[in-house]
Amino acid sequence: MLRSFIKSARAARRPVLASLALMGLGAFSPALTGAAQAQEVNVYSYRQTFLMEPLFKAFEQESGIKINFLYASKGLLERARAEGMLSPVDVFLTSDFGRLIDAKTMGLTQALQDTQIEANLPAQYRDPDGHWFGLTRRARVIFASKDRVDPADVQTYEDLTKPEFKGQICIRSGLHSYNIGLFAAMIASQGAETTEAWLQGLKGNLARRPQGNDRAQVKAIKEGECSLAIGNTYYMGKMLNNPEQVAWAESVNMIFPNQDDRGTHVNVSGMALAKHAPNREQAIAFMRFLLSPKAQAIYSSENYEYPVNPAVEPSELLTSWGAFKAEKLDLADMAAQRAAASKMVEKLRFNN
Ligand SMILES: [Fe+2]
Repeated sequence: MLRSFIKSARAARRPVLASLALMGLGAFSPALTGAAQAQEVNVYSYRQTFLMEPLFKAFEQESGIKINFLYASKGLLERARAEGMLSPVDVFLTSDFGRLIDAKTMGLTQALQDTQIEANLPAQYRDPDGHWFGLTRRARVIFASKDRVDPADVQTYEDLTKPEFKGQICIRSGLHSYNIGLFAAMIASQGAETTEAWLQGLKGNLARRPQGNDRAQVKAIKEGECSLAIGNTYYMGKMLNNPEQVAWAESVNMIFPNQDDRGTHVNVSGMALAKHAPNREQAIAFMRFLLSPKAQAIYSSENYEYPVNPAVEPSELLTSWGAFKAEKLDLADMAAQRAAASKMVEKLRFNN
């Protein structure tokens, strides 16, 4: 049986400490470590519960190892740090590899050299020291109104700053990790000055202050509030499969920017083995599973994410969107610009 520390999205907004207290700490007794390891894995997840449940269930069925998970949108690394050696966490899951790099820097991870994992994951998507591993890729694309925008006019991120798009662009907060990732990548490839000028131009073309999530921007296009937005590809899959949102999805073209030059920005979700993982062996089995063809296919068909395992084809829907060129940047180089990107956003007041 799948066990959750936090069962509902509503509960997830409670302070994290309270949620663990709700569950009791029995499952995490340090007595479970050592020779007689429990057949379970404790996961701290920045990825939402509904996204991970199909994967947890498939793993439990295959291995007989139970997954206990704690979801929160923030604070999990800090929590693990505070728990120190007695932390129950075995595996961290994040929606962005930047947080995995933070986890390594904070000393919360351990190195893992595993031939099975490495066979399924190209070197560009993992830490050279084995402290973290990518799981899926998500492209950050442009959504353009079918009625009001000719896709030929918006072929690059840079095109979004054209004067003709004044008052036409919707976007979520500049400080959200997806946007910080995009801006940091641009700093890494184009330099800080060029990126700041671009961001200024983008701000000048906004239809409204940054707000909402990625899907809210597409809704705003459907409702005529704006004509262009930036968002992640898997939200297109989710909208197309949601009766209330399918009309939003159908009101836009999805454009993979910068195909003729550096490629589209891609963000990478991933995992890391916790430094003091009490169930290390089971955790490694779980990590191997997440990169297996079976799990990678679930990520693609259920979550609309691109597999990182090169042996796994994207799902039919993703394939129908066509192949695209992704930007080729070293993940650590990109991560190194995140602080500069955040500062830039704050300076330009691009947060909300
Ligand atoms: Fe997301």
